[in-house]
Amino acid sequence: MELESFIRDVQDFPKKGVSYKDITPLLLDPKAMQLAVGMFIDNLPHTNIDKVVGIESRGFFFATLLADKLNAGFIPVRKPGKLPHRTHSENYELEYGSDTLEIHEDAIKKGEKILLHDDVLATGGTAAATCKLIEKCGGEIVQCNFLVELGFLKGADRISKYDVSSLIKYS
Ligand code: PRP
Ligand code: MG
Repeated sequence: MELESFIRDVQDFPKKGVSYKDITPLLLDPKAMQLAVGMFIDNLPHTNIDKVVGIESRGFFFATLLADKLNAGFIPVRKPGKLPHRTHSENYELEYGSDTLEIHEDAIKKGEKILLHDDVLATGGTAAATCKLIEKCGGEIVQCNFLVELGFLKGADRISKYDVSSLIKYS
């Protein structure tokens, strides 16, 4: 079974000229989901992981499954104003304008080993901001993993000091 066959290209979404990588066909198929989770686990370094950080919203799909498999905690990194307790914030640039991500200040204990997960690595802005949030909390990033990497956008360059792993890479 090829994971790539479960990714659907949608032309001109969310705007003209963009070919969107739709992961929902993969989510529909339990065997493909299980294969992806197994591959994520196989690609991890042999280090204990304390917590998995998933990035709102599409990062949540796999991050909790990975946390369960790793017997680790799950931490949501969320869009602004969603987390109720005290937060750290990071601003990041988008093609037009900027956005912010937040994490609960007390989600990580100093020195804990963290896996960052998101569905797609594109320009890397989202992942780079999340790495900063994890480090503000005192976490040590063991790996940043992604279901899909759009290699031509060079997002991996922005998080190159970490171990970056993607199951499906479009170059
Ligand atoms: C998408 C995707 C990644 C991010 C990648 O999320 O799920 O999180 O963009 O882009 P980047 O590498 O250029 O930062 P989006 O912000 O569209 O929100 P969503 O997950 O809530 O759909
Ligand atoms: Mg996202």
